[in-house]
Amino acid sequence: MADTAATADTPIVHDTNPSDDGVRRRDFINIAAVSAAGVGGVAVLIPLISQMAPSKDVLAESSTELDVAAIQPGQAIKAVFRKQPLFVRRLTPAEIQAADAVPVGELRDPQTLEERTKPGHTDMLVTMGVCTHLGCVPLGAAEGEVKGEYGGYFCPCHGSHYDTAGRIRKGPAPSNLQVPEYQFTTDTKIVVG
Ligand code: FES
Repeated sequence: MADTAATADTPIVHDTNPSDDGVRRRDFINIAAVSAAGVGGVAVLIPLISQMAPSKDVLAESSTELDVAAIQPGQAIKAVFRKQPLFVRRLTPAEIQAADAVPVGELRDPQTLEERTKPGHTDMLVTMGVCTHLGCVPLGAAEGEVKGEYGGYFCPCHGSHYDTAGRIRKGPAPSNLQVPEYQFTTDTKIVVG
């Protein structure tokens, strides 16, 4: 301030030198503020990115491991996969034969039993327990439940009948019961998801 003050004795001196200490100090403050914001941005970004990666808990929740050793031919179990019902059914030789005897070209959603099961495990049918019409849970997995006209599953909501391969055969459902992603990790264990 002293160098720019005007008095009767001293001339007005305008500071035009960019290398003046005050200017440099302001520049430094600006640069420091920008740098701090940049570091802060990176510091905020890293936790955000690490939050976006699924945790081990979430990954575990997204897959379901099942021991299918105890399921006898003709029996099925109901499990839960990603909060939705899942059916695992061990087919009898007669049920496999019935599924294989159907001309695939006549099906509404053409798929063979082999395409809907894993190689070497055509007797193990893994499907979602969700009707493909409007999402009801079909009957047929529990002991004594109605299995419909084709011996697989029956949806009581609007009368969809699924066969022993879980394929839609009659009623309003547009497609077969969905087969989720899954794999056999041993001869008797599957991991769905
Ligand atoms: S929801 Fe299954 S037939 Fe409509």
